[in-house]
Amino acid sequence: MEKYEIITHPNPFLRRKAKKVSVFDKDFQDLIEDMFMIMREAPGVGLAAPQIGVSQRVVVVEYADAEVENAKPKAYVLVNPEIVYHSDDTTSDLEGCLSVPGFVGMVERWNEVTVKAQNRFGKSIKIKADGWLARIFQHEMDHLDGVLYIDKATEVYEPSDKEINDIEPEPEN
Ligand code: CO
Repeated sequence: MEKYEIITHPNPFLRRKAKKVSVFDKDFQDLIEDMFMIMREAPGVGLAAPQIGVSQRVVVVEYADAEVENAKPKAYVLVNPEIVYHSDDTTSDLEGCLSVPGFVGMVERWNEVTVKAQNRFGKSIKIKADGWLARIFQHEMDHLDGVLYIDKATEVYEPSDKEINDIEPEPEN
């Protein structure tokens, strides 16, 4: 039996502000491992703890830069993340969400962000991201405040199968 499952809109749990993480014990490490597993199974490029019913400010991301040929997926764990810098320029692009299955929407996001967070062991980290990675960080961090992309999207619709293939820049196999 799965310990966790992805909860979907309109479950009110997704609207809660998640609690700050202060304990980095074995249970917390297990939670992070479970989150990576669930995200990969889904599959998705990012997952926030509230999406599996856990009120903790933690996000996992695994993403291979689509602009770089043969880029290896890179894993990120952001605990108690905050955006400490963002560019003025923005881009609108299509997003989906594991908690809003079957839909996509056009969302405007900052092109570059710098995120201050803690790593899985509580050490302070700072990560600069741009393009899709910056978009993923912004999307996942919104989940920690109970915000879904459908709140920000200019249009939300059910895409055709072809469009689904074009949305997330999946690494080529
Ligand atoms: Co989401």
